Amino acid sequence: MPSSAPRPAVADLAGAFALSPAASAFAAEVRAGLMRSPQKELPSKYLYDEVGSALFEVITVLPEYGVTRSEERLLTRYASEIVEALPSDVKVAELGSGSGRKTRRILEALCRKRPTSYCPIEISRTALQLCRRELADIERISIVGYERDYLAGLSEVSRQRKEGEQLLVLFLGSTIGNFARLAATRFLRDIRAMLRPGDTLLLGTDLVKPVDTLIAAYDDAIGATAAFNLNLLSRINRELDADFDLHDFEHVARFNPDVRSIEMHLRAKRDVHAEVRSAHLTVDIGAGETIWTESSHKYHADEIPAIAADAGFECTRQWVEKDWGFAESLLAVK
Ligand code: AVI
Repeated sequence: MPSSAPRPAVADLAGAFALSPAASAFAAEVRAGLMRSPQKELPSKYLYDEVGSALFEVITVLPEYGVTRSEERLLTRYASEIVEALPSDVKVAELGSGSGRKTRRILEALCRKRPTSYCPIEISRTALQLCRRELADIERISIVGYERDYLAGLSEVSRQRKEGEQLLVLFLGSTIGNFARLAATRFLRDIRAMLRPGDTLLLGTDLVKPVDTLIAAYDDAIGATAAFNLNLLSRINRELDADFDLHDFEHVARFNPDVRSIEMHLRAKRDVHAEVRSAHLTVDIGAGETIWTESSHKYHADEIPAIAADAGFECTRQWVEKDWGFAESLLAVK
């Protein structure tokens, strides 16, 4: 700063270094998670910064990761049948649209019948832009994106709908698998609370399959999933002024048979001492100790109706893709 420039007041300086509300929340969750004992944890939602979202797009086309292709096969094969099973005048709200690629078939089938509004709900502005670009060429579609978390966005879409319009909520890609089992039912209940009779939810779930197939899907040969997982520490370094050395950690995918879930962890290869300055945290991680970063629960197709009923829905139809093992279930508000 030139010496003639006025010096900022102390309060201005403090403001210049203050964290945004989003960064403060991130710092608080990182602090709580890394202080947790005996198992350190980091919330999986933080895997998806710009780098993490790009790496996830790579994962979806890996030969070992059949989830996305399996769901795309289902939606391509059964789009017309799914649309026939819906009320005639629906507005579509999608929770976590991602790139929008997997939703295309349903939207095309709906738009062939009548002009359709599509409301993708995403916390990532980049994903919303991608999705608009991917789907804008569909005839008779109108797209209004909501840059919100899922429930806040859904409540807004639900309140803003026109008289007589019924909502079709899409929750695809087996994102429900990233919730713990009880939290998944709670989340479906929260969705239900925002809906009315006649509304529907199309829920995609990855199914239980042999453990070695699952391990390969979450620990692929080229290391894309390892990079996706390690990027979380790199994000903490970038955004929270931390000094993790990524070479000190390795990616681990393990199956937990008690809850039928693949868990991703970051395992310390040696004793680690790190500082996360923006979270006012110094952390020691022993050699062999892990930080748990994600769970991906796998379901049996026939347990979905009971989970749906518990959350106030009736499972009216189900389509299953058997090559990989994925189910699309249509849940109607009871
Ligand atoms: C987004 N979600 C459904 C993915 C899954 O399969 O649980 C995230 C993922 N994590 C590692 N690979 C893919």
